Amino acid sequence: MPTRPYVIDEMISAKTIAAQIEDLAREIHDAYADTDKLIVVGLLRGSFVFIADVVRELDLPVEVDFLEASSYGDGTESSREVKIMKDLRGQIHGKDVLLVEDIVDTGITLKHVVGLLNARKPRKLKTIALLNKQARREVDITADWVGFEIPDEFVVGYGIDFAQRNRNLPYIGKVRFT
Ligand code: IMP
Repeated sequence: MPTRPYVIDEMISAKTIAAQIEDLAREIHDAYADTDKLIVVGLLRGSFVFIADVVRELDLPVEVDFLEASSYGDGTESSREVKIMKDLRGQIHGKDVLLVEDIVDTGITLKHVVGLLNARKPRKLKTIALLNKQARREVDITADWVGFEIPDEFVVGYGIDFAQRNRNLPYIGKVRFT
């Protein structure tokens, strides 16, 4: 449970998110137009709302799978290790895959998971992140599609939590301590 009181200031409205997903879905559709099956992989837990909206905008044969990764520190943030808490149920060898992430912050999680999935030799692997905090990047990784570039602020809502709270907000909001 968060220990300090805070308020949430709306940063990106539900309507703006929906419009951006519509545009991104068109690009994803073009990139995978030749697919006989697209496996959309959600990185749990933060992407669960985003992936639900993305797949419903895709007029492609889609399967959904999930992977849960958690990172933990050993004192210095940049040497954080990423632990796979839940792996995919299905095989991705030779398949078309779209990895869906909520936020790329340091980039450590996305880089690790992309490496893990690429080692399984998918036919095509692309990545989409709802939010990108470029100023926080510690490793060299860029998502193929980004919904919104945001400043170095702690955000919640639309699946994203603060100490497991606020995932159910329909918009992206900025946490402000009071
Ligand atoms: P990275 O490995 O540093 O890129 O961390 C990415 C993960 O950190 C995201 O998938 C989120 O779960 C979490 N995260 C990063 N920034 C925020 C934030 O502003 N609010 C909530 N979670 C965040």
